[in-house]
Amino acid sequence: MGLRLEGKVVLVTGAGARRGIGRAIALGMAREGARIAAADIDPGLVEETAAAILAGGGQAVAIRADVALAADVRGMVEGTVAAFGRLDVLVNNAGIAPIKPFLDLEEATWDRTFDVNAKGVYLCSQAAARQMIRQGTGGRIINVSSISEIVSGRGLTHYSATKGAVRNLTRGMASELGKHGIAVNAIGPGTIETDILNYLPQADQDRLRGQNLHQTPLGRLGRPEDIVGAAIFLASDEAAYVSGITLFVDGGQLCGAG
Ligand SMILES: NC(=O)c1ccc[n+]([C@@H]2O[C@H](COP(=O)([O-])OP(=O)(O)OC[C@H]3O[C@@H](n4cnc5c(N)ncnc54)[C@H](O)[C@@H]3O)[C@@H](O)[C@H]2O)c1
Repeated sequence: MGLRLEGKVVLVTGAGARRGIGRAIALGMAREGARIAAADIDPGLVEETAAAILAGGGQAVAIRADVALAADVRGMVEGTVAAFGRLDVLVNNAGIAPIKPFLDLEEATWDRTFDVNAKGVYLCSQAAARQMIRQGTGGRIINVSSISEIVSGRGLTHYSATKGAVRNLTRGMASELGKHGIAVNAIGPGTIETDILNYLPQADQDRLRGQNLHQTPLGRLGRPEDIVGAAIFLASDEAAYVSGITLFVDGGQLCGAG
């Protein structure tokens, strides 16, 4: 069997973090033959991601962009097309999860969480879809949502509200963009061991890492690599007729403890 994403140009946002889901997806898709535009608000980290892909024999370019800023997002899509001539797949992965009990939540935290997690998906998807429509070859948009699109957690009310928005952005965009051959889906990770967990108080991190054996049916926290197969599937020809879904990758977490 050939490489599953041979020749595809994939733009991954939030692809910088060393232990992050975005970097794992970028590296995994590059191994399947995709050319990767790796974008992140942190220019140093995303250069490392691109360097790791190049070191593995793949093709990659690093782009600094804040997904919450329309001008950055336009530059990010233009940079991708300048590097590789086209855009086939957008992975909306950039996200933040500041923890705040609802009664203490300040407006600034609410606004920034929505700007990055929800407005970022709108801005990036619109810019990418316009490029895909200009090309006339269809495309894929993959939103990294969360199990938090349907359940919440302590201090995560605003975060889960953004992921609820991503759930319905996914369905709305799938509905409107289908006629252009663009399929839009989401991945809903459960708790994954990345630096995003550092937002949690230490006691909660210890509780999650220590007790998760009892909280997740498959008996462990997720790893960034656990998300890669779902992303490759949704970007591949095998998913040609899949649109508007959230594919949960959570070790059964949404089913509750066994
Ligand atoms: N780790 C989990 O438990 C978990 C669970 C469900 C969903 N998710 C989602 O997965 C995605 C990736 O999370 P992660 O755990 O890898 O987090 P992470 O913190 O390890 O990585 C997030 C990356 O996004 C970048 N970023 C942040 N704000 C940005 C912005 N405005 N513009 C561009 N880049 C920006 C960061 O620099 C970082 O490289 C997020 O959307 C998150 O909500 C994570």
